[in-house]
Amino acid sequence: MLEVRGLRKVYEGSGRRTEAVGDLTFTVAAGELVCLVGPSGCGKTTLLKCVGGLLRPTAGEVYLAGRKVVGPPPGTAFVFQEYGRSLFPWMRVGQNVELPLRQKDLGRVRRRALVADALASVGLADAAGAYPWQLSGGMQQRVAIARALAYEPDVLLMDEPFAAVDAQTRADLEDLVRRLWRQRRITVVFVTHDIDEAVYLGERVLVLSASPTVVQEELTIDLPADRDQLHTRVAPRFAELRTRVYEQIRTAKRAGSTAKTDPPPPGRTA
Ligand SMILES: Nc1ncnc2c1ncn2[C@@H]1O[C@H](COP(=O)(O)OP(=O)(O)OP(=O)(O)O)[C@@H](O)[C@H]1O
Ligand SMILES: [Mg+2]
Repeated sequence: MLEVRGLRKVYEGSGRRTEAVGDLTFTVAAGELVCLVGPSGCGKTTLLKCVGGLLRPTAGEVYLAGRKVVGPPPGTAFVFQEYGRSLFPWMRVGQNVELPLRQKDLGRVRRRALVADALASVGLADAAGAYPWQLSGGMQQRVAIARALAYEPDVLLMDEPFAAVDAQTRADLEDLVRRLWRQRRITVVFVTHDIDEAVYLGERVLVLSASPTVVQEELTIDLPADRDQLHTRVAPRFAELRTRVYEQIRTAKRAGSTAKTDPPPPGRTA
């Protein structure tokens, strides 16, 4: 479904040059839930934006269902890291969720049904008439997820979507993602810096190195498909897997502690 080939992204400007993504190659099968985990600042958001066609890579390509990504591909939904900035405060929750559907050739009745269904599946059936700022942080993030779901994406890209919510809400939202993924068979690429979250959610975990990012390690999560917060997290296999990922991240951090921002090329003034 998704193929990332030799992806590289260098940010340049104002005399600064940051090689965020070094050389990334990986694939994600249709209907797979893959977690990307890596240290803060390692280029996860950059990578996801390239995959979602929001940023143009410096080198390499991204293919989605066999097509080269050159802009936001249809059928892809994005849940951003900063939910606070991803909903329009002047629109009611229902309108926010409905917004992307306006691009689709759907009748009003069908649109309304998709909105209602998506809000119900994140437990916010009653919130359609509220404004985002009347909701808690966790609820706002659920609205952002509902908006992505209502669009009925084939591919769902999620960038640390639960980083800013409390632990209990986060656990609920993790279960929600697993449940929706299993029900709808969406291809999910889930970015996080949280090792436990990556192991709990993923069918596979890609460990990214510090920037310039490469895939440091790839791990198949052979935990049963039925996971629950109480039992899965105390299973011996869970502990083994998280230790493995933890060690890899530590190695990645050490490798990345050498200069990550190159000085500007000689002869150029800042
Ligand atoms: N628009 C930009 N211009 C210049 N440099 C950038 C830009 N966006 C990100 N960077 C740099 O690229 C590197 C990777 O940033 P990115 O946001 O992709 O990391 P991340 O892994 O998502 O971090 P976090 O875990 O904190 O969200 C960082 O060194 C960052 O400073
Ligand atoms: Mg990020």
